[in-house]
Amino acid sequence: QCDQSSDIARFDCYPENDATQEKCLARNCCWRQPFENRNQREKHFSAFHDINVPYCYYPKDFPTYKLQTNEQTEFGQRLRINKSETTYMPHDITDLTVDLIYETEHRFRIRIYDTIYKRYEVPLEVPVITKKANQTDYDVKINSNPFSLLITRKSTGVTLFDSSVSPLIFADQFIKFSTRLSSPYVYGLGEHRQALLIDLTEKWKKLTFWSRDFPPVENTNLYGVHPFHINPEFNRDNSTNFHGQFFLNSNAMDIDLQPLPALTYTTIGGIIDLYIFTGPTIQNVIEQYWDIIGKPIMPPFWSLGFHLCRYGYNSIENMLATVKRMDDANFPYDVQWTDIDAMSSYLDFTYDEKNFHGLPDFVRNLQANGKHYVNIIDPGISSVQSPGSYLPYEEGLRKNIFMKKFNSTELILGKVWPGITAFPDFTNPNATDWWTNISSIFHDIVPFDGMWIDMNEPSSFIDGSSDGCTMNNLDNPPFIPNVLGGSLSSKTLCPSAQQYLSQHYNLHSMFGYFEAKVSNAALKTIRKKRPFVLSRSSFAGSGKFTAHWTGDNRATFDDMYFSIPAILNFNMFGITHVGADICGFGLETTEELCTRWMQLGAFYPFMRNHNDLGQKDQDPGSFSYAAQQSMKQALLMRYSLVPFWYTRHYEAAMLSRTIIQPLFFEYPNDRNTYNIDQQFLIGRALLVSPNLKTETTSINAYIPSDVWYEFPSGIRVEKVGTFINLDAPLSKINVHVRGGFIIPMQIPGDNLIIGRGNPFTLLVVQSQWGNANGNLFWDDGDSIDSIETKTYNYLEFSLMNGTTLRIDALVTNYQDRPMRLELVKILGVNKTVTNVNINGKSYTNFLYNIFDQILLIYGLELDMLTQSIQTI
Ligand code: NOJ
Repeated sequence: QCDQSSDIARFDCYPENDATQEKCLARNCCWRQPFENRNQREKHFSAFHDINVPYCYYPKDFPTYKLQTNEQTEFGQRLRINKSETTYMPHDITDLTVDLIYETEHRFRIRIYDTIYKRYEVPLEVPVITKKANQTDYDVKINSNPFSLLITRKSTGVTLFDSSVSPLIFADQFIKFSTRLSSPYVYGLGEHRQALLIDLTEKWKKLTFWSRDFPPVENTNLYGVHPFHINPEFNRDNSTNFHGQFFLNSNAMDIDLQPLPALTYTTIGGIIDLYIFTGPTIQNVIEQYWDIIGKPIMPPFWSLGFHLCRYGYNSIENMLATVKRMDDANFPYDVQWTDIDAMSSYLDFTYDEKNFHGLPDFVRNLQANGKHYVNIIDPGISSVQSPGSYLPYEEGLRKNIFMKKFNSTELILGKVWPGITAFPDFTNPNATDWWTNISSIFHDIVPFDGMWIDMNEPSSFIDGSSDGCTMNNLDNPPFIPNVLGGSLSSKTLCPSAQQYLSQHYNLHSMFGYFEAKVSNAALKTIRKKRPFVLSRSSFAGSGKFTAHWTGDNRATFDDMYFSIPAILNFNMFGITHVGADICGFGLETTEELCTRWMQLGAFYPFMRNHNDLGQKDQDPGSFSYAAQQSMKQALLMRYSLVPFWYTRHYEAAMLSRTIIQPLFFEYPNDRNTYNIDQQFLIGRALLVSPNLKTETTSINAYIPSDVWYEFPSGIRVEKVGTFINLDAPLSKINVHVRGGFIIPMQIPGDNLIIGRGNPFTLLVVQSQWGNANGNLFWDDGDSIDSIETKTYNYLEFSLMNGTTLRIDALVTNYQDRPMRLELVKILGVNKTVTNVNINGKSYTNFLYNIFDQILLIYGLELDMLTQSIQTI
């Protein structure tokens, strides 16, 4: 039973670090050096890649479950499975129920849980389906002994899920099961610092999930938890389908990947609740996933602008000097932030009246000029202030919303910036009132516009609590996933801490999720406007409430590169409004790096330059004139494209579209694109190719086989479907626009509020057939419910046969001011234009550039809401 023809089919029976032959055999598993029965070629690879091949693996007859009964239900089938022998982890659960829920044509849900005792389940509101879908594009086969499930795609017969590859183990604190993958290409599984493509062709990989405050490095658990992945299926006819899988489980877990290819989940709590999304296109998979976790929030318009922040302005004078540098150099910019140094003794909901004297007036002044202000709030609430002096703590005590020690009414205390702190339990329904109330009192003093919720993994400077942790099995589980620090309480609270909905053991990785939910609600109540929250920790579904940044990166070219796969992944995870600290948080930036990063950051959905305490200034105004010009150019590009960006956010919130995406999303049949994560697309139409290498003035970029023009020059790219060298001096970021699209743009103002009434322009990019399409969503940018109440404008643009451009204002309920169209630029006009008609009348303000094939129609005075335009 230990015979394994191939090492890649081994499933790890001893994932702990202390595996020995003896301990392995004691688990009734097989022990063998990986390369024992390999041929020469396999040995060659093994030398480099196989450090992770398990020596200890399951034999084929390892004890597991058998099918007992199979009952047809309204939603599909309910199975009872059971096992007679226990295995190596304590508290094996021998009687399990398996619900097979045929939720929709493209969505299948497997729930495996204790038949007798109710266990913890993730408190995410997911659709409850009671009726089996009439039709499905997948088949489900049940193997009875040993029990396993096989799910295949009907149209191709491809395996989507096959748990027969390893035994199911279900003990109280150790749940483990595996599935075969359709191909060795995996995307997703965050939050980790990693390349976009997880290529398992020759690699084993372990990814750990348990929210954690740590400056991102590879192979560790980080701030957020998103056990969702996408797996392409390569068909024999060269077509590609995609499916996705989401493991709805919030306990600490490992996901192991191996070249079979296969994936193994090992979690230490909850139940098995697994969704399979059958696509078949990648966008379908995203849509199907977001149907479960919720669609991203529509951000306020102003939050699409440039945000400036640092830890360590240290005084209002320094901050004012920064703002002045921004204004003097005429950089467009929208949001000024403060970090914990603006607080009084690092106490939440205070400001330092000495070093930041006049902060309230500073904020009001920003707001009077159309700008916005965001401050930081950490979850740790100081519990050691003198009685009567600190309302947030005292109110929290009164409302009984702080986390408690195990089986106790005593608060669990950790340590954060202000010293010893209590931690709010945001799963407690009373926490919303408390948080809203204390935020509101502070808002009356400093009228902030958004909330930056940091340290919410939750992070603590001591392990466990000020009095350590218990010895119970929550604080000392029999198995600990490969978490940083080797313990679940490493730099956080004891897992045994008690929260309203369950133990911290279960809810830890959702701390940031609940804090974001409550902060979002608080902001709505206080400002009565669309909330802007920026959260460091996230869980599946956080995008409904918050934006996200990728935490404490460093000022290195490598960190700049890793920001791209990170923001692409977060888009898949439904947190579309995402960015990384531009110019780098830790370490000292350089002018070169910061210039490159400002250029790249201008194309992040969320654009914030943020810097660590003690590092020299890195706001745009602190650099040389030449650097400032390059940065300004990037900022102006961003600001001119905001109507396009804003419409992408609308489509994310309404239609489940990612805002930025990898190239393979749009070119799934071009395998060259599968590994590209140094370039990305905004929507479907803009291709961004940053220069990520120091001291280089050209890049090697992939231009997919399509019609592409350089942005903004409008020069056509001759060579496509291949990697080409592009000029990339420090003054330039390469951006291309794709044929077939119409990009709505606007003349930038000093900030987005000032620029709102500015004229629009349309960039019309013809496809090879001479057509193009685009759209524009526009509202007041700040109302909570403009979508629900339809108080917005929605316009569609189309170019037909290269000759007729139409504007259709389909919804025109936001009539605050006209939407003036001033300029139309059409690329790819290959016939000389001698005559332009607008709405049937001849129009003479146009220029045709025969050499570049560009038609410019200028001086237009059209209100796009009331006048449709037909031109050329
Ligand atoms: C950690 C955050 O990640 C960082 O952005 C912030 O500046 C510091 N905490 C200080 O608040």
